[in-house]
Amino acid sequence: MNQKVLVLDFGGQYKELIARRVRELNVLSIVKPGGISAEEIKKIAPIGIILTGGPNSVYGGNAPECDKEIFNLNIPVLGICYGHQLMCYMLGGKVKSCNVSEYGKIDVTLNNECLLFEGLTGEQSVLMSHTDYVCELPQGFVKTGYSNDCPIVAMENSAKKLYGVQFHPEVETTKHGKRILKNFLVKICHAKRDYSMDDFIEEKIKEIKEQVKSEKVILGLSGGVDSSVCAALLSKAIPGQLVCIFVDHGFMRKNEGDEIERAFKDKEVKFVRINAEQRFLEKVKGVTDPETKRKIIGKEFVSVFEEEAKKFGDAKLLAQGTIYPDVIESGADNTANIKSHHNVGGLPKDMLFTGLVEPLRTLFKDEVRKIGARLGLPDYLVNRQPFPGPGLAVRCIGELTKEKLDILREADAIFRAEMEKHKVKANQYFAVLTNLRSVGVMGDFRTYDYTVALRAVKTTDFMTAEYVKIPHYVLETVSSRIANEVKGVSRIVYDITGKPPATIEWE
Ligand code: XMP
Repeated sequence: MNQKVLVLDFGGQYKELIARRVRELNVLSIVKPGGISAEEIKKIAPIGIILTGGPNSVYGGNAPECDKEIFNLNIPVLGICYGHQLMCYMLGGKVKSCNVSEYGKIDVTLNNECLLFEGLTGEQSVLMSHTDYVCELPQGFVKTGYSNDCPIVAMENSAKKLYGVQFHPEVETTKHGKRILKNFLVKICHAKRDYSMDDFIEEKIKEIKEQVKSEKVILGLSGGVDSSVCAALLSKAIPGQLVCIFVDHGFMRKNEGDEIERAFKDKEVKFVRINAEQRFLEKVKGVTDPETKRKIIGKEFVSVFEEEAKKFGDAKLLAQGTIYPDVIESGADNTANIKSHHNVGGLPKDMLFTGLVEPLRTLFKDEVRKIGARLGLPDYLVNRQPFPGPGLAVRCIGELTKEKLDILREADAIFRAEMEKHKVKANQYFAVLTNLRSVGVMGDFRTYDYTVALRAVKTTDFMTAEYVKIPHYVLETVSSRIANEVKGVSRIVYDITGKPPATIEWE
């Protein structure tokens, strides 16, 4: 059996990111609610416990607490942000509101004689996001770090193996965060690092079998990385009980429907393509609000799946390639709703399916790619850039019409071809048809045509992103090709916004 680390959730955005960092360091991680009892923890027998951040103040009413006994189990504990404050407060120290809140990248000084910070230089740049701070240490603790505005950035009671940090070691902004987590796991918890991607796949297959039993399953396959990996995993777990439905909603990119059909037809897994362009276009006719568009598309997807389920032995389970960023951005995990990813916030409440099968729900994109490769999916599928479920519908601003979608398809194909031809490095790139028309001149005539926006980003987790500095000669070629080859476009602009403040998609 693998050694485990328990991540106790106090409502922070980053709990799955912490769990993922632990997995990345080859240790099995399990997320449980913050209030779990010490008795239950003893049964799980973790080698370490991590307390996550969260939005509360320890001294506010209703603030979540942990079972105080967990600090006496002789299991190492690392408190992060709220978890750090909670540990202090529950062990008799003091927490109060900061005079100056710290948000973003902050320089701190850490004591590298502390095992947690071993191998680091004293000065570190970390991500802080807090309005409370530890102002008085609990008995038995010493301070191991500080910043200009926060006197106790880190603390430890090494005899009892209790550690706290005010900053977030799990995010990329904390430059050496991974080293800190590794120190906790290896030097403090003495992890054997016995967990691998194969264990993970095996565990998922077991979970799928337990959930599905002898039921039949319909999988919504978009041809994107997530649903393709989901299909591969399910066909290993429940081969004869699965049918993959590819709904061509008319919002696919140029030639994409045929490419997907080619990739999946005649493979071991049962594959059905449904051409439903007309049906979807009618449903979204006249709709301009992005969230309404997403919800209508999500609902229509489910209607198609329900029809197909009836044909496939009355399948009652719907499988989807939902991944963790879809879940948090849709506000489905006690966080703020940024946009309803069609497979999370867009599902109708009254659908006929009695359950969802979402084996990738706690994973991040790059982990999904690794699983895909491990399961033997071809490189071109595993390394495809992400494409949203609602497709070009969220890249065509305002009302959706066949004419506008065709313009976008052509412009997008040119942009992607030139990016590939010039080998520009980017994790995602596409064209957007803005709803803005502007005056132009072509030959001797006045035109009044659409503006196409180009978007290209660099990112690892798609939760934050930077725009790509595409060389000007590439932009120039794309601009002139689109203007010359795509009728209906008279202006081309490049989006130079990061995420945040913008999202990657425009809608
Ligand atoms: P945003 O626009 O939220 O996008 O910064 C982050 C990543 O998610 C993809 N995306 C979606 N994927 N359904 C999906 O399956 C959706 O509704 C959806 N919206 C955005 C997007 O392409 C980017 O990679």
